[in-house]
Amino acid sequence: MPVSIKDVAARAGVSVGTVSNVLNRPDVVADDTRHKVLAAIEALGFVRNESARQLRTGTARAIGLIVPDVSNPFFTDVARGAEDAASDAGHVVILCNSDESEQRQDRHLQLLAEQRVHGVLITPVESAPEPVRRLRERGVSVVLLDQHADVEDTCSVSVDHRHGGTLAINHLLAEGHRELAMITGPLSIAQCRQRLDGARDALVAAGRDPEGLRVIEVTAMNVVSGRNAGERVLAGTRRPDAVFCANDLLALGVLQVMVRAGVRVPGELAIVGYDDIDFAAAAAVPLTSVRQPSRLLGRRAAELVLGETQSPQEHVHHHVVFSPELVVRESSRRFR
Ligand code: RIB
Repeated sequence: MPVSIKDVAARAGVSVGTVSNVLNRPDVVADDTRHKVLAAIEALGFVRNESARQLRTGTARAIGLIVPDVSNPFFTDVARGAEDAASDAGHVVILCNSDESEQRQDRHLQLLAEQRVHGVLITPVESAPEPVRRLRERGVSVVLLDQHADVEDTCSVSVDHRHGGTLAINHLLAEGHRELAMITGPLSIAQCRQRLDGARDALVAAGRDPEGLRVIEVTAMNVVSGRNAGERVLAGTRRPDAVFCANDLLALGVLQVMVRAGVRVPGELAIVGYDDIDFAAAAAVPLTSVRQPSRLLGRRAAELVLGETQSPQEHVHHHVVFSPELVVRESSRRFR
């Protein structure tokens, strides 16, 4: 027979209500009483029945996090930041992977709503704002992650990706590279479009033809696609002397192909990535990358969704936009 809250109250010599306050609102209980109750919980091995609490309060002490690719270390870092903030607030994070699929995204949103989570952080599949709106209509707080919200009734936390693209190309031009190419994921992904726009802005500002930037679009932003793109660069008649990749996984795939083919990086080809995941610095040729504050993105998004949940009346929606920064390493330097 599991230990009940009544057993704890009897052991501590207090009311059931006092035990409930120790569990849910410890700040309203006097220290000595709280210590007596915690000692009784410890002695009896009491574990609260979370599903009963959910039924009573109608919500779970959890937030959902839906990202396009949990195998991308960028999103692992984002999840770490979200978990830091959620844990500080006594919550857990339920991590879901959409794989850029609307169907998977919808299933996750439905399950999270059924679980009565306190809120959802989501990098939505580009063409599917509807499910997010429906979730809000069900009273679930939503924060758009890694995407700027164009609506006033939803918080968002993102990075100025257009500026990130400009930083990358300005650096390659400053290093003296002239024949530039960009390897990007599907341009249906807003982050990729914005990075390409920023890259073209840099060329225009340098008095160059933005259409002179060779663009190689791949179907997924992972190492395999990076390798495929690297093979296309090698097979091309007019090989670039520098490539800007829309994320580090693509850049690592390109680097792997070049090293295997004996192409000197840098020297014959400069490479710049985006995200600055841990593997960028640890690569065979340390990778220059446009750093995103990934962990801070996750923490800030979780803080916003919990803030809205805990004080819905006082909550003011925010659109937080962080600036990326360029981290220069060996892969893009031009030998003098
Ligand atoms: O989801 C693909 C990319 O978009 C990630 O690598 C990260 O850069 C995000 O902004």
